[in-house]
Amino acid sequence: MTFEFLAQGVQSKREKGQYRQVKLYDGISVSAVNAGRQSLINFASNDYLGLNGHPQILDAYQQGLQQYGSSSSSAALITGYSKPHQYLERQLSEWLGAERSLLYSSGYSANSGLFQALLKSGQLNVVFDRLCHASMLNNMFHYPKSCQRFAHNEQSDLDRRLNQCKADNKLVAIEGVYSMDGDKGDIATVFAQCQRHKAALYIDDAHGIGVLGEQGQGSARVALANVSCQVPSNVTQMVTFGKALATSGAAIAGSQELIEYLTNFCGEYIFSTSMSAANALATSKSIDVCQRDNWRRQKLEELRQTLVEQLSSDIHTTNSESPIIGILTGSEENTVRIAEAITSKGYLVSAIRPPTVEPGKSRLRVTLSAKHNVNDINGLASAINQAMEEESLPC
Ligand SMILES: Cc1ncc(COP(=O)(O)O)c(C=O)c1O
Repeated sequence: MTFEFLAQGVQSKREKGQYRQVKLYDGISVSAVNAGRQSLINFASNDYLGLNGHPQILDAYQQGLQQYGSSSSSAALITGYSKPHQYLERQLSEWLGAERSLLYSSGYSANSGLFQALLKSGQLNVVFDRLCHASMLNNMFHYPKSCQRFAHNEQSDLDRRLNQCKADNKLVAIEGVYSMDGDKGDIATVFAQCQRHKAALYIDDAHGIGVLGEQGQGSARVALANVSCQVPSNVTQMVTFGKALATSGAAIAGSQELIEYLTNFCGEYIFSTSMSAANALATSKSIDVCQRDNWRRQKLEELRQTLVEQLSSDIHTTNSESPIIGILTGSEENTVRIAEAITSKGYLVSAIRPPTVEPGKSRLRVTLSAKHNVNDINGLASAINQAMEEESLPC
């Protein structure tokens, strides 16, 4: 019998309480998701600004579909690059304060493709924050000698590793807002360290774009520049469109040199069908709305403060500074049980377990949206307080 490893692998996930499978949910509004027959208030999506379903974005999609069809039908370097793609890249460069931008079909492929393209040159050492997303860290397994991790947000550990690193080309990779903890990368301090050690900086801003800055321009511009200045050219940003911007796809924004290199060496860009022009048009419209509607960011922050104030004082949360709040629950079993208890009260939150987080650091991941209202937050806080009291077992 061959391929026994398939069933064995899945079985071992079951035994560790880490088995995953999809569940069916209907509805686009963050405040009314149907799971089976139950109607839930959704605190598990990444629609931070509440733009999913926005009429102007839907209109832009429809116009794009009419004009360009449902697919780009080829890779960008063949015939899959049209005016909406070009417009979106230019709009992103201006918004993010970068020389140039390059579109990808997903954040996963942008991260994975960029590090693969750079590391295969054999010319580079990368120091990742320990909590960087899997799409960046997956390359560590292929290039273990060229990659290392520093303790999360620990500047002294980063400094030590950069000091010891003798490579000519060094890159530090962090996130603007960490996806599972909701805390921020200390970009200004990390950038100063990079300057001292002649290293470049890569910022995955999947969860900061749209959410931070008066025009939603994201973590790098808030920390390193202001609205009228460029971000330094040795800083590269990766932004995704499937979260606050409510479409799909991603972009890398950086120097002209880097974008030209990726266009010539990054397999995920060269050999993959580009995003549809309709998606590019809708994303451009979403950026317009995001820049204009600062009230969405202000409301998010108010909702965040309301939730944090209402959680019982004995509940431990992550050091959240964003609409992502982690409620620490310890073991996998505890986490699943508490999440189910909260669901039974009508609220959907994510149960996050290893390998997404380290063993013993399982948590509920609560994500807020500008579409939520104060009643939603009050109801969620009391559901969490009750479930944590009734369901927590001593670790
Ligand atoms: C920090 C981070 N980077 C990258 C990605 C991947 O982005 P995408 O969903 O567009 O593939 C995610 C997705 O959740 C993420 O959280």
